[in-house]
Amino acid sequence: MEHPKKPEPHVRDPHPRDTGGPAQPMLIARDVKKHFPIHAGLLNRQVAEVKAVDGVSFSVMKGETLGVVGESGCGKSTLARLLMHLMDKDEGEIILDGLSVGTYQGMPLQDLRRSMQMVFQDSYSSLNPRLTVEDSVAYGPSKQPGISKKKAREIARDILEKVGLRPSLFGARYPHELSGGQKQRVNIARALALDPRMLILDEAVSALDKSVEAQVLNLLNALKAQLDLTYVFISHDLHVVHYISDRVLVMYLGQVVEIGPVDRIYADPRHPYTRALLDCQLSMHPDDRVEQAPLAGDPPNPVNPPSGCRFHPRCPFAEEICSSKMPELGDTLRAGRDQHLTACFMAQPNSGHSKAPTQAELLKRSAAAPAPMEA
Ligand SMILES: Nc1ncnc2c1ncn2[C@@H]1O[C@H](COP(=O)(O)OP(=O)(O)O)[C@@H](O)[C@H]1O
Ligand code: SF4
Ligand SMILES: [Mg+2]
Repeated sequence: MEHPKKPEPHVRDPHPRDTGGPAQPMLIARDVKKHFPIHAGLLNRQVAEVKAVDGVSFSVMKGETLGVVGESGCGKSTLARLLMHLMDKDEGEIILDGLSVGTYQGMPLQDLRRSMQMVFQDSYSSLNPRLTVEDSVAYGPSKQPGISKKKAREIARDILEKVGLRPSLFGARYPHELSGGQKQRVNIARALALDPRMLILDEAVSALDKSVEAQVLNLLNALKAQLDLTYVFISHDLHVVHYISDRVLVMYLGQVVEIGPVDRIYADPRHPYTRALLDCQLSMHPDDRVEQAPLAGDPPNPVNPPSGCRFHPRCPFAEEICSSKMPELGDTLRAGRDQHLTACFMAQPNSGHSKAPTQAELLKRSAAAPAPMEA
């Protein structure tokens, strides 16, 4: 897919709703876990659990787009729902602009919903078929205290204009009268109608045709700059994530295996899983298409995941240490946002893996890395 050139990073002015200041990350997830119990038998006893999200930590700076990639079933949507507090987490903390969410003295959930909204993949089922486009977008604001029905309609028309749907043409239409791209624009408008500071986009363009996908991605970039937004952009499509993200987080079986600036990860992926994902993604150019299984080995199963490094049964470089010890990712919350972290023994000096670099080699490699991106 030929996407237009990536826009320059947006230069931020202080936001009137900043509670933590410009250097405070918009979102921090600290050691977030969600395990789903599996019950079986006559007594419906718990026999196992799905470790859908298993100790995930990261931060997203204001005005940044963090891409989240990984195969189906690795926990991306569960993570999105946990960030939105659409389901309870088992452990961990979520901090929005310096305020812990859902805790005593923290940010109440209704404030979170105003600050953070979500856009899903399935643009049709998330729209009420009996509501017109304008009613659908006006619904959220009309439920806010102090906002009249008339004001909610004004907000809806303004947002529809912003997402490229002229209200005089589209406002009175019903979802079945819209194309896939138009429906997804309505969903984006609904998310923006509450004036959020952040969007969680879960496979938001995955159901669209490639040409429509590019238009919606451009719209998302334009809206981000215009409305001073921050994005977590979840997708299994590495092309799309490369285009839209400033940084990328790679998930495997509920854990983060690699995180760093997008250009650095795509130019120099260090985790064998990230390398395999990048090697195997189908080129968008028809002449370059390859027909092959995306990755060797069994598909990932988050029920009782493998010991040690969860990727070891599929990793061509696995050694004894890989099945006995879990490689650390490093402290994603303390590391600078231009830092590239990898949870693999081959990336950690003196780890005991035969391909581990020495400290000197590691220093040489980081000196040769591309310059950090602008803030
Ligand atoms: N409500 C649930 N109950 C039990 N298991 C679930 C539930 N939601 C998701 N899972 C399981 O958690 C794992 C991660 O799912 P999901 O977060 O949807 O992954 P992704 O979005 O990356 O495809 C999968 O194995 C899925 O079957
Ligand atoms: S730690 Fe070992 S098994 Fe895991 S990705 Fe690295 S080399 Fe492969
Ligand atoms: Mg999903």
